[in-house]
Amino acid sequence: MERSSIVIFGASGDLTSRKLIPALYRLFIKKRLPPEFRIVGVSRSHFSDESWRDTLSTSTQQFVKKDFREETWKSFEKHVFYYSGDASQSDFFAPFDAFLTQMEKHAPTPRLYYLATAPTLYVPIVRGLAPYMQREKMVEIDGRPTPERRIVLEKPFGRDLKTARDLNAILHDNLDERQIFRIDHYLGKETAQNLMVFRFANAVFEPIWNRNYIENIQITANEETLVGKRYPYYNQSGVLRDMFQNHLFQLMTLVAMEPPVRFDADAVRDEKVKTLQAVRIYRTAEEVQENATFGRYSNPEEETLSPNVATFAAVRFFIDNWRWQGVPFFLRSGKGMSCRTTQIVIQFRRPPHLMFSKGVFQPNRLLIQIQPAEGIQLYFQSKIPDTNMEIGQAELHFNFLRSFQKEMPDGYERLILDAIHGDASLFARSDEVESAWQIIDAILSKRQDALPYPYEIGGWGPEESQIWMQNLGATWFNSCPVL
Ligand code: BG6
Repeated sequence: MERSSIVIFGASGDLTSRKLIPALYRLFIKKRLPPEFRIVGVSRSHFSDESWRDTLSTSTQQFVKKDFREETWKSFEKHVFYYSGDASQSDFFAPFDAFLTQMEKHAPTPRLYYLATAPTLYVPIVRGLAPYMQREKMVEIDGRPTPERRIVLEKPFGRDLKTARDLNAILHDNLDERQIFRIDHYLGKETAQNLMVFRFANAVFEPIWNRNYIENIQITANEETLVGKRYPYYNQSGVLRDMFQNHLFQLMTLVAMEPPVRFDADAVRDEKVKTLQAVRIYRTAEEVQENATFGRYSNPEEETLSPNVATFAAVRFFIDNWRWQGVPFFLRSGKGMSCRTTQIVIQFRRPPHLMFSKGVFQPNRLLIQIQPAEGIQLYFQSKIPDTNMEIGQAELHFNFLRSFQKEMPDGYERLILDAIHGDASLFARSDEVESAWQIIDAILSKRQDALPYPYEIGGWGPEESQIWMQNLGATWFNSCPVL
């Protein structure tokens, strides 16, 4: 691929300085960007090319830290430009397109429009760009026919099924689905992608990856951080919309989906959609009450956080298909927790007959650490040396950093590079987003008005979530990663 234009709407925003430019700069260092590329930032703020470059130089230093080199930045910033304008207005687009075409010297150049803006701007920008999106125009990139012009959207994709459908309908009126790249940054995480490799490039795990051998699956995404200044958004969203509908469901589908016939965008996403469509929908308040529990951290200093917004939730899901019938998937996520950890625990069944009576028996567990301390641990029973057949838990330990001596890149690097190359395998498709909303909507609409259980900051969520789990015949595997 020879050329690319990357346009970032929302150039003066936090996402651009914190994630997008650092990821592009790192890709530049790794020589992964096309030989001829330009990044054009667009927002209403007044910057010149020079002043925007200076601002970005400071923020990029802060975020890429030791990878920042003054001379490399100087060559990178030559590709960075700024265009001031109001993309919510329809008269913005014609002059902007003329400006970009001129910069490209009228040479056919694949374009990526990245919407790092408030979601309220998605519709005006998509409508404004539509006449310039050349729906039918395809180019061949990496041997794959790819739309020449593409658009990247950040979450949230709607706030429920109806708004997601409305947004998708507008997108489809103006663009081809193959031009739309909906980012879920969890799919950019190496460890999330590795789930597919782990399952489908090894022969030993897949035969036991089913209801015959697995007792339950626990997926946890805990954070120490609090809601803080994000309260206007968070009071409207709460943890189910913020973390379950997207990130946790992505992890669940990667764990549960059937093997795709090949690794390409449609084959992978077809399997994910099939999995989501098999998730049992809770239709009554009783079902929701039985299968979900909510919490909110207590923090007198955050009066801005609404008292009934859940900052923690744990939900038991079932996937009604042959592979997973009867296996509970326990998903939970919380803010203000004891440690930052995203992990998946595959808990295997007990041996059918246990003939050792001494020691503490624990079921086999496979712990997949998505972040931090990215790695995989297998817990198994072992004889404790110098005892009379007493058993204890032992562990096999894999750590990405130690095994490959390579640092884990930020997820945005992978996703931006894939979007530049037009590979949508790690992006959400419209039917996937809608299926996910259908499941969450049902829970939200039947959730009782009762306030979430309060919990102390720095623990594992409300005590009630532990009791709830026990009542369902399972125990959370609470483990903070050792860094
Ligand atoms: C975002 C949520 O999508 O993901 C945030 O809006 C959350 O509330 C964040 O903190 C977590 O991402 P990560 O990569 O830090 O686990």
